[in-house]
Amino acid sequence: MTLARVHNFSISLDGFGTGEGQSRETPFGHAGERLHEWMFATGFWHSMTGRPGGTGGVDDAFARQHGPGIGAEIMGSGKFGPPGWHEDPEWKGWWGPNPPFHTPTFVLTRHPRPSIEMEGGTTFHFLDTSPAEALETAREAAGDLDVRIGGGVTLLRDFLAAGLIDHMHLVVAPILLGRGERLWDGLENLEQSYDIEATPSPSGVTHLTFTRATVERG
Ligand SMILES: NC(=O)c1ccc[n+]([C@@H]2O[C@H](COP(=O)([O-])OP(=O)(O)OC[C@H]3O[C@@H](n4cnc5c(N)ncnc54)[C@H](OP(=O)(O)O)[C@@H]3O)[C@@H](O)[C@H]2O)c1
Repeated sequence: MTLARVHNFSISLDGFGTGEGQSRETPFGHAGERLHEWMFATGFWHSMTGRPGGTGGVDDAFARQHGPGIGAEIMGSGKFGPPGWHEDPEWKGWWGPNPPFHTPTFVLTRHPRPSIEMEGGTTFHFLDTSPAEALETAREAAGDLDVRIGGGVTLLRDFLAAGLIDHMHLVVAPILLGRGERLWDGLENLEQSYDIEATPSPSGVTHLTFTRATVERG
């Protein structure tokens, strides 16, 4: 069985994966870029954005796990676009003509529209279906490869609540957001289903990996 994996998903110390007030100008609301500053410094991000340089330490090693072995992505409507994107027939995501997914990418929304083929192998497909059915569809598209669950926060929380995540890499940034969308709400005892490791980075963030435990602890 292929895996459902999460990579580079960043939360604040108080558990928020995005701030309040998302808009076209502020994709992460009042959080700005603070949740992902650790990633922007890495060689991984520099290469993704066509620039030389970047760090090569712990943060970079984790960040690079994002792509290998992935054959499809599932994302939520709130990651695909700002509030109201449904009303814009021209909206094709934040990422320009060649988005960084390079696979079939399934957007969960109650406002589906026809698929959009982008450059570089990304095709956006729009699904109004349950997390489990979306995962089944993405698995078929991914073939022998894994499916990345790309967020945002509500979508990831729903997939966790449904027990669909096999491997999750979270990054805890040393900031307090105070408001926004919280990942953990309603996920009591989640830790019992996973083997969890924490790796501190000199940059100040902590990398957490949740790997589904073969036998659940009672
Ligand atoms: N911290 C990180 O690393 C990270 C990573 C990715 C994104 N983000 C941020 O997270 C934020 C987005 O998160 P969010 O919680 O606001 O939204 P989200 O999780 O991206 O999407 C939630 C929305 O997706 C649609 N949806 C979800 N499940 C569905 C289902 N089963 N069937 C049909 N539609 C479904 C619904 O929208 P509609 O039906 O209204 O379309 C729902 O309101 C953005 O600010 C983004 O930048 C953070």
